[in-house]
Amino acid sequence: MNKKGRVFSGARPTGRQHLGNYLGAVQNYVKLQDEYECIYCIVDVHALTTMETTKDLKSNSLEMALDWLAAGVRPEDTIIFIQSHVPEVMELHTMLSMVTPLGKLTDLPTFKEKVREQPNNVNYGLVGYPVLMAADILLYKANFVPVGVDQAPHIEFTREVARSFNFRYGKNVLVEPQMKVTEVPKVLGIDGQQKMGKSLNNHIEIASSPEETQARVMQMVTDPARIKRSDPGNPDVCNVFSMHKIFSSREDVEMVNVECRRAGIGCVDCKKLYAKNLNEHLAPLRERRTKLADDPQAIWDILDHGAQQARTIARQTMQEVRDAIGLP
Ligand code: TRP
Repeated sequence: MNKKGRVFSGARPTGRQHLGNYLGAVQNYVKLQDEYECIYCIVDVHALTTMETTKDLKSNSLEMALDWLAAGVRPEDTIIFIQSHVPEVMELHTMLSMVTPLGKLTDLPTFKEKVREQPNNVNYGLVGYPVLMAADILLYKANFVPVGVDQAPHIEFTREVARSFNFRYGKNVLVEPQMKVTEVPKVLGIDGQQKMGKSLNNHIEIASSPEETQARVMQMVTDPARIKRSDPGNPDVCNVFSMHKIFSSREDVEMVNVECRRAGIGCVDCKKLYAKNLNEHLAPLRERRTKLADDPQAIWDILDHGAQQARTIARQTMQEVRDAIGLP
């Protein structure tokens, strides 16, 4: 089939994916495969910029790959690999650093945020984070990069670096990518307040058991004004209702919408219904995941094969890059 161009995306190896990852990225990764040639990368080197320990790096990479594959990322069509398995990216990172004004990196909002978050670990890698990300994208000459809006400055930076490189060395070697903003609902954690995230422990993992899922759902914060069962609730401010809208049938959504407002259904039953629908939605994925997890070596083989495919592209680009620079 004729594809519409090449997509590249990367994600830090955060381990088992939660509903925020699933709705925000993974589902989109799966969909994009139909129309684009896709390359998905587990960016373990980027992870080092913020990590205190590397002890979970391997298992987190494997768990994330398992979730992606179980969700429908197809290694027959798509290149899926681990960033450090293609070391050419480090080389391109160095070459790009020569056309990157330092001030541009220290001005980025993402950098400033990290400085606030980890004032005692403002390492060199953190400053170069966007350069390495640009290297990821440019090494594979990606046309499109699906990311959340928070990554927009990094994509703009990538475009600028590509232009600077091509201009400086007088060759059109690097391809300016376009950002593909992933339009997703903001997924809140079970606290109903903050974005779902592992560090806040307010998340629901897609790979958890139906029982664990139900237990987590039962902890979800609902409309805070609804105290007694007999109080009418307001679905418009309820996080459980937001999730019903994603995972439940039209009939269930309509029923909850009506019955909550007139206290016909309580929060407990509403959550049970959501947990049931969520578990039903995730059942096929979980079944595939259990099978895949039976043979971890097969997953490492998929990642190795992906790295080989990625490396073929990477080597070609690096040859062009070296020639353009005029390295002896
Ligand atoms: N910076 C991205 C994030 O934090 C991860 C990332 C690294 C990435 N390299 C990339 C995303 C290349 C898209 C393309 O989410």
